[in-house]
Amino acid sequence: MNLIFILSCLAGVSLCFEVHQSHSDLITVPGYKVQIFCTYDKSDYRVMLWYQRPPGDTAMNLIGYLNFKDPTMEEKYKEGFNISGDLSVNTLKNASLTITAAEEKHNAFYFCAASRAQ
Ligand SMILES: *[C@@H]1O[C@H](CO)[C@@H](O)[C@H](O)[C@H]1NC(C)=O
Ligand SMILES: *[C@@H]1O[C@H](CO)[C@@H](O)[C@H](O)[C@H]1NC(C)=O
Repeated sequence: MNLIFILSCLAGVSLCFEVHQSHSDLITVPGYKVQIFCTYDKSDYRVMLWYQRPPGDTAMNLIGYLNFKDPTMEEKYKEGFNISGDLSVNTLKNASLTITAAEEKHNAFYFCAASRAQ
């Protein structure tokens, strides 16, 4: 069984307080798909970044980011992860990180952050 924790915000890059994640923590079973949603209501923030922090580690690794509708994945996360959503809307923005098939190695803290267009 995997434990995936999702914390709500990341200082520095973004507007932590505006960002809401769908789960504060999540337990899943190996092999299952996991989709985490992150929403916020801030019209000119059209980039959503996702980070992973392994347990016991202080490094915050960028998984990738969504720019409007276009995902860009970091090399290390191209396999097994997906980012999707539409940040071009002017209503509540809602995008997600998907782990195609959860594995033990995915046990981590996940963070989402919003940023202005780059
Ligand atoms: C990511 O999404 C694309 C397009 O929806 C899909 O073709 C691909 O298989 C997905 N990759 C993973 C790792 O889920
Ligand atoms: C975000 O989108 C997902 C899938 O479409 C939906 O289930 C979820 O309720 C949405 N979240 C909010 C806060 O609208």
